[in-house]
Amino acid sequence: MSDLVTLAARIDEIWESGAAADARAVVSEALALLDAGAIRVAEKVDGAWHVNEWVKKAVLLHFRYSDNREMTAGPIEWFDKVALKTGWREAGVRSVPTAIARYGSFIEPGAVLMPSYVNIGARVGTGTMIDTWSTVGSCAQVGKNCHISGGVGIGGVLEPLQASPVIIEDNVFLGARGEVAEGVLIEEGAVLAMGCFVAGSTKIYSVPEGRELPPGRIPARSVCVPGSLLSKDGSHSTYAIIIKKLRDERTDARTALNSLLREGGV
Ligand SMILES: CC(C)(COP(=O)(O)OP(=O)(O)OC[C@H]1O[C@@H](n2cnc3c(N)ncnc32)[C@H](O)[C@@H]1OP(=O)(O)O)[C@@H](O)C(=O)NCCC(=O)NCCS
Repeated sequence: MSDLVTLAARIDEIWESGAAADARAVVSEALALLDAGAIRVAEKVDGAWHVNEWVKKAVLLHFRYSDNREMTAGPIEWFDKVALKTGWREAGVRSVPTAIARYGSFIEPGAVLMPSYVNIGARVGTGTMIDTWSTVGSCAQVGKNCHISGGVGIGGVLEPLQASPVIIEDNVFLGARGEVAEGVLIEEGAVLAMGCFVAGSTKIYSVPEGRELPPGRIPARSVCVPGSLLSKDGSHSTYAIIIKKLRDERTDARTALNSLLREGGV
């Protein structure tokens, strides 16, 4: 196996110049490392999130160099370029029937996948539950001990290349049917009530701070609810995320999951 710096350089080169004789093999090597959790699309380095663009390029190149092939499950069949992840028992992940994770995603041991969908390049931390009908988009990073409630959408970001993935840090609770997209960062321990929609331009107002915050980041331990903000000229109001308070014991009690339901596959 080539070292990671060389591998990154080869991926960049294939991305820039197109075909190389061993392009398929190089891209496969990167995807295998991603699938095994040895490399990731984004990681925290010295306290700041760093996006490994070469890994995203590898994911996109995987589509160029892969052919569609039939996949079946009993009478059910698909036709696609990206295989499905298998080997849940060995991976230590509890995967409930009809949960689907694509090859090139990585689910840490101890996570639980209810009937949900995890796309290529995404990563899900240990102790996290991806609840029913929720989707973790391509390259999204979900931390440890999170609850991604039923029907939540976490946006994917394969295109454009420079787009940052959505990052959900450890111990976050995303209430049912909400959506987080466009590279938004949800910091450690934040709680989003059901139905919160957060895109890159969504207005965020903090009641404890008494001011509007810059878009794109929900600060750690914020308890957020859907609301609206009046425009500057007072002519209309716009959907906004309202941070009501910092997480307290009452919030913890309401967002706690039964530990029996959370037990992963290890
Ligand atoms: C966010 C949540 C956990 C409440 O947290 P909490 O700490 O108990 O919040 P509180 O009840 O103390 O409310 C704090 C403030 O937020 C408001 N608020 C709370 N939940 C709200 C909601 N869902 N929508 C709008 N406002 C809400 C309260 O009215 C209160 O406002 P006030 O300070 O002006 O009186 C809860 O509303 C929620 O969304 N739970 C998740 C449900 C869910 O998705 N379950 C998973 C199913 S798979």
